[in-house]
Amino acid sequence: ACSRLSVVACGTSLYAGMAARPWLEKYAGIAVDLDVASEFRYRNRPADRCAGSLYISQSGETADSLACMRAAKEKGEKTAAIVNVPTSAMAGEADVAIPTLAGPEIGVASTKAFTAQLAALMRLAHTVGKTRSILVPQDETRFEAAFRMVPALIEDVLDREGSCEAVAKVIKNSKSAIFLGRGANHALALEGALKLKEISYIHAEGFAAGELKHGPIALIDEDMPVIVVAPRDGSFTKTASNVEEVAARGGKIVLLSDQGGCDALAKHCRHQVVLPETDDLTAPFVYAVALQFIAYHTALALGTDVDRPRNLAKSVTVE
Ligand code: M6R
Repeated sequence: ACSRLSVVACGTSLYAGMAARPWLEKYAGIAVDLDVASEFRYRNRPADRCAGSLYISQSGETADSLACMRAAKEKGEKTAAIVNVPTSAMAGEADVAIPTLAGPEIGVASTKAFTAQLAALMRLAHTVGKTRSILVPQDETRFEAAFRMVPALIEDVLDREGSCEAVAKVIKNSKSAIFLGRGANHALALEGALKLKEISYIHAEGFAAGELKHGPIALIDEDMPVIVVAPRDGSFTKTASNVEEVAARGGKIVLLSDQGGCDALAKHCRHQVVLPETDDLTAPFVYAVALQFIAYHTALALGTDVDRPRNLAKSVTVE
């Protein structure tokens, strides 16, 4: 019944919600507000019994996300949680708990939990769109195809590990790296930057590609790797113009795209990772795994502990 949804989470789980926002808006007709749990918690948001909130968490114990969920319930709002640990507080307390079924995630950096969260969110957009009679038959067929194709697409990315390893060689001696993308690819850029900084300790920032000229472009020089997440989707030509802006300033561009995208931008990009053809449903899975590989191989090259990075806990149960 809600046509407005607050999606609340932290870290990688927040970026899963951000990557899924276009699905929920386009295919389920739900306006999505996205909030960092540690901020949402302290906003003076008026109670809205017509609004629902969705919490995304691997552990289901993240203090800020859990506190937000409890506060929403106290206001009489409906809550749902996408959670990986079925025995967690969030799974037990949400009005509706959606399991991600990724199995125990051992490494501190969230990887399979992220792609499993995306899968749960895609299923949610599909189900809500159908229930609200918003999803047109043609899109329903595309969803069914996407659900079937994602495992094979991910395997295809696993076969391209070598290209990601080559990118790691480009990044490993840099002090800093920039990740760019638009729409869902902006969420992927943020996630790629988070993964890189978590496990390799290289400073990295993700930006909406359209924000480049509002400040970040000042950082571009020949030592700055700029990783561009650019499947050939509706925003490709706009991202391509950002690639040209970076190239004109000597930035070291690493383009992640499909064959057609890489061919189109070949003259600007010394480094490319050619990924399988995707659409708006399958792209986040494909690009997420490639970005995870880039962070992983950079960390391996630098000799950091990819499973237990310094200063991080698997589950953040304190504020
Ligand atoms: O358990 P949660 O999904 O609620 O955890 C949220 C973040 O702490 C978590 O995603 C963190 O950002 C990871 N270390 C990312 O790899």
